[in-house]
Amino acid sequence: MAMSFLACRNTFVKHCFHRKLTTALWRSFAKWKPTSSRNYNIAACMPEAAAFLGVGDHAGLYNYSVNEGDRFWGALARQRLSWITPFHTVQDCKLSEGKIRWFEGGQLNASVNCLDRHIHTCPERVALIWEKDEPGTEARVTYRQLLELTCRLGNVLKRQGVRKGDRVTIYMPPCPLTVAAMLACARIGAVHSVVFAGFSSEALADRIRDAQSKLVITSNQALRGGRTIELKKTVDQAVKDCPSVTRVLVAMRTDNQVQMTDKDIPLEEEMMKEDVTCDPVAMESEDMLFLLYTSGSTGKPKGLVHTHAGYLLYTSLTHRYVFNYHDGDVFGCVADIGWITGHSYAVYGPLCNGGTTVLFESTPLYPDPGRYWETVERLRINQFYGAPTAIRLLLKYGDQWVKKYDRSSLKTLGSVGEPINSEAWEWYSRVVGEGKCPLVDTWWQTETGGICIAPRPSDPDAEIIPAMVMRPFFGIQPALMDEKGNRLSASDVSGALCIAQPWPGMARTIYNDHKRYIETYFQPYPGHFFTGDGAYRSKEGYYQIIGRLDDVLNVSGHRLGTAEIEEVVNQHHVVAESAVVGYPHEIKGEGAYAFIVLKDGVDDPEELIEKQLRDTVSLKIAKYAAPDYIQVVKRLPKTRSGKIMRRVLRKIVEGKGSQLGDLSTMDDQTAVQEIIDGHKHLRGAPR
Ligand code: WTA
Repeated sequence: MAMSFLACRNTFVKHCFHRKLTTALWRSFAKWKPTSSRNYNIAACMPEAAAFLGVGDHAGLYNYSVNEGDRFWGALARQRLSWITPFHTVQDCKLSEGKIRWFEGGQLNASVNCLDRHIHTCPERVALIWEKDEPGTEARVTYRQLLELTCRLGNVLKRQGVRKGDRVTIYMPPCPLTVAAMLACARIGAVHSVVFAGFSSEALADRIRDAQSKLVITSNQALRGGRTIELKKTVDQAVKDCPSVTRVLVAMRTDNQVQMTDKDIPLEEEMMKEDVTCDPVAMESEDMLFLLYTSGSTGKPKGLVHTHAGYLLYTSLTHRYVFNYHDGDVFGCVADIGWITGHSYAVYGPLCNGGTTVLFESTPLYPDPGRYWETVERLRINQFYGAPTAIRLLLKYGDQWVKKYDRSSLKTLGSVGEPINSEAWEWYSRVVGEGKCPLVDTWWQTETGGICIAPRPSDPDAEIIPAMVMRPFFGIQPALMDEKGNRLSASDVSGALCIAQPWPGMARTIYNDHKRYIETYFQPYPGHFFTGDGAYRSKEGYYQIIGRLDDVLNVSGHRLGTAEIEEVVNQHHVVAESAVVGYPHEIKGEGAYAFIVLKDGVDDPEELIEKQLRDTVSLKIAKYAAPDYIQVVKRLPKTRSGKIMRRVLRKIVEGKGSQLGDLSTMDDQTAVQEIIDGHKHLRGAPR
């Protein structure tokens, strides 16, 4: 299966590999050369390394982490997490069977690791800085206050009948109560499923039903970029079709009253009635901590499962070492809490490290394109972690929006979620970071739990090559596979990116669908975890990510299955069939492009059909999923056996209609020229 992905994208991959860096850009970063690591004390950086025999530099530590995985992870887990009962076995994994178990025998609680243990040392340290949507307003929450909020909320959940193992869906904006809700679930042993608050009621309902959640936590409204979003109304609509939901807890984000139903409970009022302590439940290492839904190559989103111990260790370790986070730093991850980046680097990683983390509720353009940098100045942010799509957007507005603000607090910049192009990388590094901050392009996925490939950690001052993710993190052993499924051992090669060894942060299963988990990740390349991405390994052994090899789009860093969009489009009464592919988009990275064939006899105006289709996709999935272009075609290009030739459609939307390659398997080649002509016409009139 994976090999056919590869065949499809082969030319695309080749094209990307040759997108070499410009010489000028290269020269400007040439000053970042590796320096001698002879005088470098690795144990000062990672205290546990003192016990790892023969380890003296980063390469030594990396080799130790992959060759002596049990010792490496065992020592880190013992030192870095607070255990109720110590574990007896570091790992018991069989990748070929999709069996992943870490730190068995151990008991702990993620909320204790993120809260209670810091209360003993620094109760008044700020845990969260909530950067509210309203410009210039922020709210600080100390560790003591966050523990109190979490305990009160945990007690409310218990009073409402939530027990260990029950699922709770959280549909909220990034704010302290959302973090408290996540940690409250962890504290009482419930499993949280945060659904991004941009998803429609139907998408929310699907996710509630799949998880069989008992309870939903939401807020009356949300504010985003100055607009009010009716979250509670969306939840009302969703829970109508979700019989498992007995209660909806409603927080007040704004002062506006909303209609309450008999399932609804005002959250803050209930919390005030509760005690400020709540005993944490002893969780097994492998008990579920949360589910997070993400798109795959079928129409059905998958609920990836992460567990208490391994996820917590991996996110805290990557947070500490990829970003060089130190006590007292202010960590600014601007991703929404509804995505894995928000989970791992706005909540669990930083809090497990006793850090101060920013919850960014707004958008990069509100009230103006200086928002991020004004926030950096006001909150004195030390590490800034954002998405290439926002950087591409902001660079268009010019340097003055950045330079207006004092960014001297910045020490590390990070990028995540999609490939960052050289121009955006260079601007981010030169203008935002004034060439003084290491810029780390971090590759990872919902499935991997935390960052797997990034330029840091490394030896101090080791080179960073623009727009490359470069170095595997400790314990991560990347492998590139060719089209026949053989592992490529050479350098200067490209192939399907796999990971050859288990690591503690990896997802354990797809909720209720272990079979799909095995088929998707472990069967394509037996003995390896298959990421779905293509990558290039340079002569120096550094990695560069090419993009997805399957039918998953990445729109503004948000994952979207083309099959999900097609399913919705096909439900429209005038549509006979459709094919959705991604096309390169200057700001969003990728956009959705839909080809549709109408049913016989349909003569509705095309503009009306297009509008209806866009509205339907927004309603059924989310606004960002709506196709930018909808092209009505007479026929889709198909093989003689009836399979849609997506490869051909991808070429057409990339503007390479003259390089379609071998069409000998195509059933009716006359369809193609019409599609190419129609595409040219449509792209001449962008929406
Ligand atoms: C893509 C987001 C290039 C990739 C953390 C991956 C990237 C998918 C990068 C996961 C990067 C993530 N360079 N591509 N630095 N980071 N991706 O699950 O295709 O929302 O498979 O996790 O985003 O998206 P997800």
